[in-house]
Order: sequence, then structure tokens, then C-alpha cells
Amino acid sequence: MKGLILAGGSGSRLRPITHTGAKQLVPVANKPILFHGLEHLAAAGITEVGMVVGDTAAEIEAAVGDGSRWGMAVTYLPQAAPLGLAHAVLVARDFLGDDDFVMYLGDNLLRDGLVGFVDRFRAERADRRAPRLGESAEPPAARILLARVPDPQRFGVARFGPDGSLTGLVEKPTDPPSDLALVGVYLFDPRVHEAVRAIAPSERGELEITDALQWLIDRGHPVHHEVLQGWWIDTGKLTPLLEANRLLLEVLDPANEGAKVDEASQLDGRVVVCEDAEIVASTVRGPAVIGPRTRIIGSYIGPFTSVDRDCEIVDSELEHSIVLAGSRIENIPRIADSLIGRDVVVSRSARRPHANRLMLGDHSQVDLDQ
Ligand code: TTP
Repeated sequence: MKGLILAGGSGSRLRPITHTGAKQLVPVANKPILFHGLEHLAAAGITEVGMVVGDTAAEIEAAVGDGSRWGMAVTYLPQAAPLGLAHAVLVARDFLGDDDFVMYLGDNLLRDGLVGFVDRFRAERADRRAPRLGESAEPPAARILLARVPDPQRFGVARFGPDGSLTGLVEKPTDPPSDLALVGVYLFDPRVHEAVRAIAPSERGELEITDALQWLIDRGHPVHHEVLQGWWIDTGKLTPLLEANRLLLEVLDPANEGAKVDEASQLDGRVVVCEDAEIVASTVRGPAVIGPRTRIIGSYIGPFTSVDRDCEIVDSELEHSIVLAGSRIENIPRIADSLIGRDVVVSRSARRPHANRLMLGDHSQVDLDQ
């Protein structure tokens, strides 16, 4: 079985971060989202991966390389424009050949990984015994993962018949037929290639994977489903991204990987401090991770905070936030619920006249305290 990771897209909901970088490489718990996915695919025994890439191809390729770090061979598949998840399957046609594959959205995170889900499809596909009464004679053409969500209007949603079998999928319905949403991992056999060729773009101009699944169901090709138990997060927006960071930090094993922590400082709870970080006259209350060479001076780092490498946090308080590499925060009494990009400076000066002096990129968001 091959893997197909979707790491293109436009990432409009994470602007301005995505003006300068790929959303799949934003770190959660100081590790790019995409790396968590690659680890899960590797654990499920996938060794050949096609990586669909768009405008941020160079950055993704620089980070992932040939995939050997995960025991994989990664092939890059350029997609000229983000024309939909089913379009990404079209782009990957030659790479996928006639193999079964697992399609994984590169900005999704699943607590429990993919091993069980992938193994169940493998077993069903290998099962050539005679079908039992009421069972379809055909092996499944696809297997999908569903999760209960409070706001199904925002997702692809499953519809079921009176006997509980899957009868359809609807993209972002105003009147959802269930509260079971499609999680960003799908298993397909080669019949999906005919489906993605047959469907037409939706109203938003994308080839929808829900339409391809519907096409398979309508032609009587079995699409099996299962309901996910552990958490799953589509990290494409700020709030779920911070939530993913929180959930991953919560299971962190505390460690000092070679940081200097002075006597006036305190590390409480689940805290990881990486090599050559410096904690001076500060309190870090976990769960939190402080990246390599980052300096925390006279500051308070509160729970659910990831500070990446080469940052400086001076005389400031920060919690429930993600700070990307090379940023500096100085003399700010409290920052919370924030995502701060790379090489950003946030500081408070005594310059007169008193004012907030800003230089913000397009689509930035600032919520001032007073
Ligand atoms: P989405 O988050 O649904 O789409 P997007 O990246 O365009 O984001 P936004 O809605 O904020 O503009 O995409 C899910 C994943 O699939 C993500 O990793 C990007 C990737 N993708 C592709 O590789 N090609 C595509 O054509 C699309 C639509 C998404």
C-alpha cells in the first residue's frame, strides 16, 4: 500500500503565517504538523509516499527531503493549483499506479495514528472468502474514518440508510444528516481513479473527495467506515492549532536536554528544555517546550506554550501560545492564545509619544488589551 500526503493548498485560514510558509510545517509541540503525520504513516508500514505540493513545494522538500529519516521514499508531486482533494488524486495517478493507498491531509493530526485503520483495510482487501448473507461480494473500494463533531456544517458529513449503512457524503451541509464528519484520512483502491475523472468541480470550483466517494457508493462499490475514538484535529485555523499544541504538550515527558537553568529559575510540571536553551530568573510552568538555543530571561512561560529555537523572551509573560523560530518578545506583561511567526519582534518601549507602533503583514490580527 502506498501513501499520498496532501501538502499543497492555499492555507488562507492561517494567514499571515501562510503568506511566508507552509501551514503543514507550523510546529506543534515544536515539531512540524507534517512530521507527526509522516511518523503515523511510517508506523502503519507505509514506505512509498507521494507528497502533493503547491506553492510551498521548496520549503516542504527542504524539510522532508527524501523521507529516509522515516524509513520512506518520498516522491514530490507538484499540483499547479489547489483545485481540490480529488484533484490531488488525479495529479498522483501515475505515482499510485494500481496500488491501494492511504490519503492523508498534511495539516491533520490524529492522536491514535493510523495503524488499526490501515490494517483493517488491508485485511478486508486480502479477505477472499465467500461473503456471508447480507454482505457485499465485492471487496471495499474505500474505507473512511468518521468523527463525531458538534458543528457538522463545517465538514464533509456522512449520511446513513435505515439499516445503518453509509449511503452518502455531503460537503458542508446547512442541514447535516448526522454529526459524523469525515476525518482527513482515507483508504482507497484503484477504483477511485475512475471516480475522480468522472466528477465535475463543485460550486467552489474544487474537485471534492466527497463527490468521488459518492460516485463510488452510487455505483454500488462498497465504501466502509469506522468511527474514530481518540481526538483528531484539522489544524488549518488558529484555535484548533493551539488546541493540537495543548493536547500534544499534555503527554510530553519532562526533560532537560542540555539547557542551562539558573538557580533563580523554576521548571514546574511537564517541561522540556532543549539543548543550549537558557532559563534565567524565570518560571516555566508546563506543559511547555522551550526550543534549542532559546533564552528565557526574567519571564513567566505558562501552560500549553511551545517556543521554538533561537527565540528570546525577556521580561514577559506568555501562555497558551506558539512562538516560531527566531522571534523576540520583550517587556510584554501578558501574551496568551497567540501564534507568533518566525523572526517576529514584539516589544514595549518607553518612546514618546506613547503609542502602539505596528508593522504587520497582510492579514495579520492584533487584539490589544487596552
Ligand atoms: P484544506 O485545509 O481543506 O485547504 P487549504 O489548504 O486550501 O486551506 P484554506 O481552506 O485555509 O485555504 O486542505 C487540506 C490539506 O490538503 C492541506 O494540507 C492542504 C492540502 N491540499 C492540497 O494539497 N491540494 C488541494 O487542492 C487542496 C484543496 C488541499
